[in-house]
Amino acid sequence: MFLCYSLIMDKIFSITVNSLEETDILAGKFSNAIRKHGAFVCLYGDIGAGKTAFTKLVAKYLNVKEKVTSPSFVIINEYLSGDLPVYHFDLYRLENEGVKTIIDELTEYSKPDVLTMVEWAEFSDCELPFDRIEIKIEYIDENKRKFDFYAVGDEYKKALEGLKQ
Ligand SMILES: Nc1ncnc2c1ncn2[C@@H]1O[C@H](COP(=O)(O)OP(=O)(O)O)[C@@H](O)[C@H]1O
Ligand SMILES: [Mg+2]
Repeated sequence: MFLCYSLIMDKIFSITVNSLEETDILAGKFSNAIRKHGAFVCLYGDIGAGKTAFTKLVAKYLNVKEKVTSPSFVIINEYLSGDLPVYHFDLYRLENEGVKTIIDELTEYSKPDVLTMVEWAEFSDCELPFDRIEIKIEYIDENKRKFDFYAVGDEYKKALEGLKQ
């Protein structure tokens, strides 16, 4: 079930946003794209790129009522009050050995109809579901960011196409 093979990876949509408000609008569109079936999402980008900020905004649009905070110390936060269960991982603090300790959770949260957002998926030791969305966030300047959305496998291609509208 788990594979690490990012060669079959299609860049579906790219956008440069000029402010957090524009990231908010993008998060609204993204949440609509995945609202029906959920998704497994890996977020890439340097510290301060906006991985947590984007996740918070997506959670807001999924009507998560709890306060969404960075899981960097706790590794996993879960929010069950919204339209979908939202599982928010930050793997930065895990050594490869550590990933094995949360592999059951990663597997559990790869099921349909949940949204799993994984910051620092680089540290997942490739223990990722084959079908997934990858989002790369590039810091351009204080308020400006470039977002690239990729589909790995076919499952999420159609959903991401919805971002173009
Ligand atoms: N356009 C933007 N999109 C996302 N975040 C932005 C933007 N402009 C400024 N920011 C700020 O950049 C910071 C990103 O921090 P954070 O989301 O914690 O980064 P990461 O989780 O990638 O380390 C936040 O303080 C956020 O308010
Ligand atoms: Mg973060």
